[in-house]
Amino acid sequence: MIVCRSHAELERMRAAGRLVGEVLTALSAKVAVGVSTADLDAVAEQLIRAAGATPAFKGYNGYPATICASINDEVIHGIPSKARVLKAGDIISIDVGAELDGYFGDSAITLPVGEVSDEAARLLRVTEESLGKAIEVVRPGGRISDIGHAVQTHVEAAGFSVVREFVGHGIGQRMHEEPQIPNYGEPGRGPRLAEGMVLAIEPMVNAGKPAVKVLSDGWTAVTRDRSLAAHFEHTVAVTADGAWILTAREQPVAAGR
Ligand code: MF3
Ligand code: CO
Repeated sequence: MIVCRSHAELERMRAAGRLVGEVLTALSAKVAVGVSTADLDAVAEQLIRAAGATPAFKGYNGYPATICASINDEVIHGIPSKARVLKAGDIISIDVGAELDGYFGDSAITLPVGEVSDEAARLLRVTEESLGKAIEVVRPGGRISDIGHAVQTHVEAAGFSVVREFVGHGIGQRMHEEPQIPNYGEPGRGPRLAEGMVLAIEPMVNAGKPAVKVLSDGWTAVTRDRSLAAHFEHTVAVTADGAWILTAREQPVAAGR
């Protein structure tokens, strides 16, 4: 069953999403050469708890941290570590989830560290654009698969590929609710979108081939061909006027330095 939320519930989900956006903005300002992914995780956990919220990922199926921090060929679910220190030319995906007042927000960005290759910069741009294209097709009466179709069309036109093994998801009083939201496929399939549905849309895009594998830590997903990968995510509500981006950021994320 896909839950439709009242306006009052969506306001509470906006509060959770706003916090997640603020945490991403704050983390983006910390991203720099010499910073470890454990440093970023500590900042995120402090900010979430200071807001009276709870890190959504910590303890989820045994996940040990507040954020996922995935560098270069790591696609998603990289575990923060003191030993992972950012260097110039890296790209880092930061995924943040928080529960506030019983509702969840979930959002991710990928940032350059210092100067990155033209290919890396293009991968980040195209992946973020594909999330924008997906959000544009969200409207009551549309279909779930319209979202993945929009992502896949944009990504493959740029010569990149879409990860198949992981998908976006409904979100609300749990982090993962129905439906699943693949980032590929034919349009016009799957459940119809209706006002009040809340979706975490999260394209994962590889510069090379689509295949990924999970490392022996049980979490980190990397590209099989070791090509770069990017990940962007927003939590959005379906409204009469289209998508309401619940994790929208008031302050832009820094471009990294
Ligand atoms: N944004 C990711 C997701 O939707 C993050 C989950 S990390 C986990 O599933 F550790 F919580 F699983
Ligand atoms: Co998610």
